[in-house]
Amino acid sequence: MGVKTQLDNRLRLCADFVRRGARAADIGTDHAYLPVWLCRNNICPSAIAADINPEPLSRGKLTIDAAELGDRVEARLSDGMQAIGENEADDIIIAGMGGELIADIIDRCPYAKSKAKHFILQPMTKSEVLTARLCANGFEIDAQDCCVSGGKCYTVLSVFYTGRAIKRDETYYYLGELDPRHNATHLRFVRSHIERLRKQAKGEARFAALADKLEAYCD
Ligand SMILES: C[S@@+](CC[C@H](N)C(=O)[O-])C[C@H]1O[C@@H](n2cnc3c(N)ncnc32)[C@H](O)[C@@H]1O
Repeated sequence: MGVKTQLDNRLRLCADFVRRGARAADIGTDHAYLPVWLCRNNICPSAIAADINPEPLSRGKLTIDAAELGDRVEARLSDGMQAIGENEADDIIIAGMGGELIADIIDRCPYAKSKAKHFILQPMTKSEVLTARLCANGFEIDAQDCCVSGGKCYTVLSVFYTGRAIKRDETYYYLGELDPRHNATHLRFVRSHIERLRKQAKGEARFAALADKLEAYCD
């Protein structure tokens, strides 16, 4: 099996947020492309490739073996961070899952509220639910970006616990730290929220007002 040397834009954007020198844990790793890439490119000295299911984890092991990185990347069966000790990872990536599941995984992590931990989160759906739950629980988004991969637009959040539970306007849950006025990819992502809200507005009128508010950030 050949070694995959390039990440797609979505995983590459996640990788771009990982701090150089950080020990990484990739939760829900599947093929382990991200932790292998981070170690091969010497961004991380070591990484844990974690998955709840044995089948994706065995795919991950194949990638690790093909890259001959078994001494630096460990494949581990874990439900969220349950099997990962507090002192094993600095940067925790949770990518390719729904926003609610990502929020649940963080809620269940006993050491998530450690200011030293850095979360890199890439929700496939419901980023607004994830952002709302992060804000309510004292986490802050220090940076956020978007990319297009395979024709779809994705967002990635860089998150730390600060302990400040800031009450935000509902629009923040959709916008986060994105800047749709000045960044065309951010605009595309926010427009996808607006389109979805317009559809939801057919059942519940308040979503129309929310979509209008978001439009005002796009002009
Ligand atoms: C769609 S894949 C995403 C793979 C990779 N992270 C990416 O973004 O391309 C989702 C993976 O998350 C795993 N998963 C789902 N729930 C999980 C949990 N609670 N803890 C760890 N892994 C989980 C699944 O088994 C699956 O391999």
